[in-house]
Amino acid sequence: MTQTPSKYDSSEILISPSILAADFANLTSELRSIESADLIHVDVMDGHFVPNLTIGPPVIKAIKKIATRPLDVHLMIESPETYLEHYIDAGADILGVHVEACPHLHGTLGEIRKIGTEKNRVVRSCAVLNPATPAESLEYALDEADQILVMTVNPGFGGQSFIEAMLPKIEKIRGWIESRGLDIDLEVDGGVTQDNIALAASAGANLFVAGTAIFAKDDRKLAIEDLRAAARKADR
Ligand code: DX5
Ligand code: ZN
Repeated sequence: MTQTPSKYDSSEILISPSILAADFANLTSELRSIESADLIHVDVMDGHFVPNLTIGPPVIKAIKKIATRPLDVHLMIESPETYLEHYIDAGADILGVHVEACPHLHGTLGEIRKIGTEKNRVVRSCAVLNPATPAESLEYALDEADQILVMTVNPGFGGQSFIEAMLPKIEKIRGWIESRGLDIDLEVDGGVTQDNIALAASAGANLFVAGTAIFAKDDRKLAIEDLRAAARKADR
């Protein structure tokens, strides 16, 4: 039932609902309600790297059993390199590590791909930037990244406001992807709504995480379609 991530066309608009905003007591029906999305965004927080605690491998394993979309796992934890295999075994199809938590980013991204290959899986590596971290901090590691996530809030909590000052960073990274012909999805996460998704899409993002903007709505399918339509309408 589960799918491995295909090689996406980076011009494709992809929506990744963040289940942080879902009702955790009813995860099965919550996951059913977002089956029209492209991915499922799973936020892992350790209470150290960010001031909040969420879920770990056992819950991800349970989600994986019923998920019909690939899992886009966002690790907001210290020393992520220690836990890569745990999250890949739990079912991550995309595994994101924060640049600020990785002294050996290039190696850690490569390790994500390698562990996947060793297990006969395709696991996409993702480098994540906090708002305060410049794009240049990951430029040297672009060849090991399948995805780059630009945080548009300070990570830790859902329901915060989109920081528009991140748009030039998105533009810069999109410029690198295009000028170097890289196969990298550019993701934004935090405060994405129907009103600002076009700004991020115009700046060059093609993969959009949304928690509150989807789960606070009764009709999740419509919320996903509205986000997709607004992003597609953007000047890209
Ligand atoms: C924040 C998380 C986000 C968050 C997004 O630390 O990484 O994925 O759940 O939620 P919204 O869309 O409500 O900002
Ligand atoms: Zn996230």
